[in-house]
Amino acid sequence: MDNRVSIAIDGPAGAGKSTVARLVAERLGYIYIDTGAMYRAVTLQALMDKININDETALTRVAVDVDIALRVNEKGHTRVYLNSLDVSKEIRSPEVSRHVSLVSRVPGVRKRMTQLQREMAARCSVVMEGRDIGTHVLPDADMKFFLTASVEERARRRHAELQERGYTLSFAEIVEDIKQRDNIDASRAVAPLKPAPDAEIIDCSIMTVEQVVNLIVTRVSGRFN
Ligand code: DC
Repeated sequence: MDNRVSIAIDGPAGAGKSTVARLVAERLGYIYIDTGAMYRAVTLQALMDKININDETALTRVAVDVDIALRVNEKGHTRVYLNSLDVSKEIRSPEVSRHVSLVSRVPGVRKRMTQLQREMAARCSVVMEGRDIGTHVLPDADMKFFLTASVEERARRRHAELQERGYTLSFAEIVEDIKQRDNIDASRAVAPLKPAPDAEIIDCSIMTVEQVVNLIVTRVSGRFN
């Protein structure tokens, strides 16, 4: 019998998805898959190769050729490897953040990432986090959640996170970045950002991470235990 469970967590940038998804996976003993990190890794490779960011054919080639691996280290943190190199820090740079929406809207890039993500979900129980997991990558996911929060709240969190990492971007710049990314992500032709019809929508603006995690874990446990 197939006991694998798949949980889809989607939503816009900065809604707290990554932290929530990672903790939910930890609590349930499932594997956490950060699909945004995969698009970021392709973007990093394209920037390193000095690929023209509007050249869809070249970007698709990068996506097909790169070797991306997500591995959990001894502390339980997911590390991202690009052609065997740990690029977990580099993929979070403002430069990658600025270009990733342009790379992830390319159909050939999405096709390759979707294929890899489905292969990962076929191997074990997963909490997969992204933009199109419930709608496109795993339309038959066992449970789907869509996390959202106001632009200001998301910018506030991103600002704190970037400061912690030593980057100095103004709050206004981050608000602009987030709005621009939302716009590109929601209006692209292939698998745009939107909740699946059967997803539970959770507004995280005034909820703590713990409250959101508890809510999701309760829902999943109620269904599978
Ligand atoms: O979650 P994040 O900010 O690391 O995602 C980076 C970018 O990747 C984001 O601009 C949208 C894109 N993305 C996507 O198009 N589809 C996914 N499943 C995950 C991320």
